[in-house]
Amino acid sequence: MAKDTMTLTNNATGESYEYDILHATRGPSVVDIRTFFADSGLFTYDPGFTATAACESTITFIDGKKGELRYRGIAIEDLAKHHSYMEVCFLLLNKRLPSKDELVDFDLEIRHRAFLHRGLQKLFDAFPDDAHPMATLSAAVTALASFYDEHVDIDDEAAYLEMAHRIISKIPTIAAFAYRQSLGIPFIEPDINLGFTENFITMMRAYPGGKMHLNATGHDHVKDVEVRALDTIFTLHADHEQNASTAVVRGVASTGAHPYVAISSGIAALWGRAHGGANESVIAQLEFIGSVDKVEAFIEKAKDPDDDFRLMGFGHRVYKNFDPRAKILKKLQDELRDELGLDTELMKIARKIEEIALSDDYFISRNLYPNIDFYTGIILTALKIPTSMFTPIFVIGRTVGWITQWIEFKKDETSKIARPRQLYLGE
Ligand code: ACO
Repeated sequence: MAKDTMTLTNNATGESYEYDILHATRGPSVVDIRTFFADSGLFTYDPGFTATAACESTITFIDGKKGELRYRGIAIEDLAKHHSYMEVCFLLLNKRLPSKDELVDFDLEIRHRAFLHRGLQKLFDAFPDDAHPMATLSAAVTALASFYDEHVDIDDEAAYLEMAHRIISKIPTIAAFAYRQSLGIPFIEPDINLGFTENFITMMRAYPGGKMHLNATGHDHVKDVEVRALDTIFTLHADHEQNASTAVVRGVASTGAHPYVAISSGIAALWGRAHGGANESVIAQLEFIGSVDKVEAFIEKAKDPDDDFRLMGFGHRVYKNFDPRAKILKKLQDELRDELGLDTELMKIARKIEEIALSDDYFISRNLYPNIDFYTGIILTALKIPTSMFTPIFVIGRTVGWITQWIEFKKDETSKIARPRQLYLGE
């Protein structure tokens, strides 16, 4: 059978070049233009990579028009409803869901690696009391690389998995320590009796000695409903194919740097307001708007082409219909409203924004819908998680995705150093 190809003609010279079309198993196929510069002496121009596939991948698939998201072929709705975040981590790393026994082993492995070297703990003292936890987190993950030098050159499956398990288990501990450092309160060590998500909430919230509440017994536990909500949030953040921070992780991987340094770079990229930092901005914006009657004025501001103001938590580069993660969280938010005592004033403002924006031509014509960050903030606030920890929570969920992408990049024999070209317009 003849190969599918595409012919590109330079109308200035009349020269034509033929390129193979490589077919995807889902979603758009790609034109293989790797020899384009050698053939034509021209570069392609695509700022922001809106039409450029930079790698082959079997990890995550998104169909932005349909609002579809799959990890290893499994729909996000199925994973969020029927599987735990630990199962999702196993799935991303191993390309299949675990059996019951495998899940027990994986869960124990993650629990026992959660502790930090005492030397690393000293690093937190170097930060000012009001340091943003994302700064501390990124620095501590770079520092972590120095404790595991052997992970730079990995060549067998067991070593890849050990490296990945280590960073997945330590990220919540580092995030919780970064938070407690920012408050100047003592760290709570991981508790191996607790699962991943409950352990993280405990490290954030507990008094020394593991007491959760200041009451007669001091022994109240983290509520199951809180664990379920945060576990779902981790699952929804676990991977998102070649987004900005993942592209950074792969870019750093391409230079041969340590995997944890690549993760630290991903953390830095995620911090920005146009990416993971948006969740923090959503709550700040809802609080700034302050009351339902002011919503319309802010919507007008967002629509004004001469005003930089944007509605935080709206819009997405890929989802042009709806963000399936946002849909799941909106449902979860409605289910948890009574159980978690969600902040009703903030919810009312959020609902009003949603209502107006979803029926306004400005937003409809630009395909601007609420994204995941629009809903995470309200749920995290109900879990008593402060806004400065919203993006670190995103980091905790996303670490498995970043490290899986790092491994895929390393194993791909066609991988090359990331080195884009430019359209030079200077002197
Ligand atoms: N509020 C108001 N107008 C918006 C918004 C918004 N949130 N987002 C985009 N627009 C408008 C732009 O002004 C532009 O209008 P124009 O065509 O009249 O000039 C049009 O919609 C297209 O916007 P772009 O910036 O070109 O879209 P892009 O795909 O490059 O950006 C992004 C996507 C960065 C997410 C953008 O929608 C945004 O800034 N949203 C707010 C921040 C946010 O919520 N980020 C989280 C993303 S999800 C995540 O990272 C987990």
